[in-house]
Amino acid sequence: MELTITQPDDWHLHLRDGDLLKAVVPHSASHFGRAIVMPNLKPPVTTTAAAMAYRESILKALPANRKFTPLMTLYLTDNTSPDEIKLARKSGVVFAVKLYPAGATTNSQDGVTDLFGKCLPVLEEMAKQNMPLLVHGEVTDPNVDIFDREKVFIETVLQPLIQRLPRLKIVMEHITTLDAVKFVESCKEGFVAATVTPQHLVLNRNAIFQGGLQPHNYCLPVLKRETHRQAIVSAVTSGSKKFFLGTDSAPHERRKKECPCGCAGVYNAPVALSLCAMVFEEMGALDKLEAFTSFNGSDFYGLPRNTSKIKLCRATWVVPEAFSFPFGDIIPMFAGKTLEWQPSSI
Ligand code: NCD
Ligand code: ZN
Repeated sequence: MELTITQPDDWHLHLRDGDLLKAVVPHSASHFGRAIVMPNLKPPVTTTAAAMAYRESILKALPANRKFTPLMTLYLTDNTSPDEIKLARKSGVVFAVKLYPAGATTNSQDGVTDLFGKCLPVLEEMAKQNMPLLVHGEVTDPNVDIFDREKVFIETVLQPLIQRLPRLKIVMEHITTLDAVKFVESCKEGFVAATVTPQHLVLNRNAIFQGGLQPHNYCLPVLKRETHRQAIVSAVTSGSKKFFLGTDSAPHERRKKECPCGCAGVYNAPVALSLCAMVFEEMGALDKLEAFTSFNGSDFYGLPRNTSKIKLCRATWVVPEAFSFPFGDIIPMFAGKTLEWQPSSI
């Protein structure tokens, strides 16, 4: 069996920089046409000038003759100015601004400490410029249970934010709960949407502890219980335009994952499309796959859909145990496992 679909885009991707960038960019570029590139580098990408420089280094790291368009983002801080948003919009290469609550995840220490106290003028300018706000939707209060942080964020930040700025376009990134599904479904189409990762579609929190601690299944927001996974699967296979693929592929060197205090992040770029096809097939919803991977995201961002196609063949393949580089190994999601769907490269 073979499925031909419009070339997918990845609406949430970590490409890193330096050696790691060169190592991972070919994997994304061999399947995806465009990607929203996350700005949580060290130091973070906080200005349009930095985003333009980062974009150049991504393009330089691409294999010869490979067409792949990085859509850049800015990292919101307490000090981001409304003028920076005007510059970003004028540049034509910045497509969104990312909100990391300070301390929520990898390289978020420079993130926002007080959204309503410090960032309202910037958010107002974003609404004016039609610049989407991409949200890491978790509170950082250590007293809130880690499995409840998304739900509490919706109640304490997102609900008040949409009341205050109903015209701001918001993407709730990597949603993990039934609460997030309900919230996004309750909002106005075209203003609030959500990205969904392969790991939150196919794994529940048992996968972190299956037979021992599994660091390569640890990401943030952390995997949730099975009922939440099912709610997310139902949402993406329902045909709703509000949900689209953002892999959150987040490579870390093996030694930074397999250690006493391992980094959060799942490296899924090589398996993302296979896993999506598997989930949609299981739900009898393969006819809805293309909208999720290739239409809903570009429609929300107001960008044209891709015109090229890729093929997904129903053929088994084994995910490599590791990708090895002079600087170390990167372990992909489902390393060593056999998958049923194989995407063609372009
Ligand atoms: C991401 C990373 O490693 O940059 N990690 C993750 O677990 N998803 C950051 C993020 O998106 O939260
Ligand atoms: Zn991410």
